[in-house]
Amino acid sequence: MSARLLLVYHSAEGQTAKIADRIASVLTEAGAEVAVDQAEHNPSPAGFDAVIVGDSIHIGRHSRQLRRWLTHHADELDAMPVALFQVSLTSATDDAEHDAEAHRMLQGLLDATGLDPDMVGLFAGALAYTRYGWLKRRMMTRIAADRGDSTDTPTDHEYTDWDAVEHFATDAMALVGA
Ligand SMILES: Cc1cc2nc3c(=O)[nH]c(=O)nc-3n(C[C@H](O)[C@H](O)[C@H](O)COP(=O)(O)O)c2cc1C
Repeated sequence: MSARLLLVYHSAEGQTAKIADRIASVLTEAGAEVAVDQAEHNPSPAGFDAVIVGDSIHIGRHSRQLRRWLTHHADELDAMPVALFQVSLTSATDDAEHDAEAHRMLQGLLDATGLDPDMVGLFAGALAYTRYGWLKRRMMTRIAADRGDSTDTPTDHEYTDWDAVEHFATDAMALVGA
């Protein structure tokens, strides 16, 4: 029988959703049955062999939606394999300082929810300027300028390493012994 995985995510501007879709494609191609749902729909982990959760960082924190889902299902998640991926602009810079910051934000989520994941992926997200309203675009342009990221607002800028995402998905299959 094929492995059954539940992929639960929250995405404010769409990049975590895009990453979730890519992970689901890799898992499906590898022969798993994958259900993808948003944390705000409160899907039940019952009946699945493993869970993958994904969330993005806004103002230094994980979303209330994913925190709430993890807290709500803490006992079930404790008893099954869980892989977690975090999406942020911090992980677009590959150095010790940014890596420490990405881990600090991850630890904030683990402390708040008691989750103890078997696997973690820290992925770079995107500057989705065309999806932001005026205020968000202005704020993100300033942050991007400080960070040395693109301030070219008529287009979106994707920093996600898709090879790393696909490796994460392949490793997640091993969680269920597939
Ligand atoms: C208003 C806003 C605040 C953000 N704050 C942070 C932050 O504090 N740290 C960080 O690393 N990335 C931050 N980001 C970048 C997001 O994590 C990145 O854009 C990610 O791709 C968003 O994923 P989503 O589209 O799935 O929501 C912020 C983005 C926005 C729009």
